[in-house]
Amino acid sequence: MSCLQSWPEPIVRVQSLSDSGIQIIPDRYVKKPTDRPSLSLTAPMAANHTNIPVIDLRNLFSEEPALRAATVAAVGKACKEWGFFQAVNHGVSHRLMADTREAWRSFFHLPVEEKLAYANTPTTYEGYGSRLGVEKGAILDWSDYFFLHYLPTNLRDLNKWPKFPTSCCELVEEYNSELAKLAEKLMKVLSANLGLQENQLQQALGGEEVGASLRVNFYPKCPQPDLTLGLSPHSDPGALTLLLADNNVSGLQVRKGENWITVKPVPNAIIVNVGDQVQVVSNGNYKSVEHRVIVNSAAERVSLAFFYNPKGDKLIQPIKELVTENSPLYLPMTFNEYRTYIRTRGPSGKSQVDSLKSPR
Ligand code: OGA
Ligand code: NI
Repeated sequence: MSCLQSWPEPIVRVQSLSDSGIQIIPDRYVKKPTDRPSLSLTAPMAANHTNIPVIDLRNLFSEEPALRAATVAAVGKACKEWGFFQAVNHGVSHRLMADTREAWRSFFHLPVEEKLAYANTPTTYEGYGSRLGVEKGAILDWSDYFFLHYLPTNLRDLNKWPKFPTSCCELVEEYNSELAKLAEKLMKVLSANLGLQENQLQQALGGEEVGASLRVNFYPKCPQPDLTLGLSPHSDPGALTLLLADNNVSGLQVRKGENWITVKPVPNAIIVNVGDQVQVVSNGNYKSVEHRVIVNSAAERVSLAFFYNPKGDKLIQPIKELVTENSPLYLPMTFNEYRTYIRTRGPSGKSQVDSLKSPR
């Protein structure tokens, strides 16, 4: 598609804006009043005491059926009610997580000229980017990112991955491989929780041929955090997202009804959230939930979002056993087609998965 071949305007690196010491952010980043952090959907007092569920996965593969069942149920409940949870004792090495995150922090702290060697285009989004979506004149988010493909392996192009820091490629391969294993385990849990065979959900998404990619988000300090967002409200288009955020800097907000709940990071936890495709194959049993990121003037924030995706050219549709009424809730579509919409429009709430709703 020709409209996806280049950005509609010259790209400005948000980190460069932040580093320049400006006190007033450019209009391009100023959200309209109702979209700003404090004025939209303000969290009432009670909501400040709420956090997304924290689930200990230690017992997931326990020999003891009752312990396993309790964990499966907790994951299922969180994915139905919140679309989100924080996983602890997930089995991924804390050292590997910290080393990978810090390697990426070093990457973002390289001089801008070095990072520009990886500048991306909207065709594949691979590389160093500073906007999502190609709508001319769009209000932009206060973040830069690096996006890379991991699965299927024929899309994995190590030449496009950062050469500095030198440990980066190796860490990313190991980290992604651990996260893909965790995602597979969680797919089994989500499948069992719907009364399906353990591998059924995964099969519905393409079995062994699923896709995966990593987006590392960098949210520079912002002199006027009340006027902008690090990432606008969206649901994740893929199947499941595994997010590693900074241990001490919060920023992620999850929508709960009319409130935005700020996730309080549990050190070394992995934040798990349901993507649109799991909402579709589960026929709405699991919900992909809107989330967004706020920024602050005191600290930068780094997050690694591992997207576990369906096979690109498979038609994704509700699993038969879950279609209890006459018609499935969602129309079939391939993930490749689905993703083009997001790549064109940028983050736009839940409008996309809603557009798949089948007429009744
Ligand atoms: C994302 C995302 C949240 C965060 O990358 O899709 O929602 O905290 N990131 O960076
Ligand atoms: Ni997201």
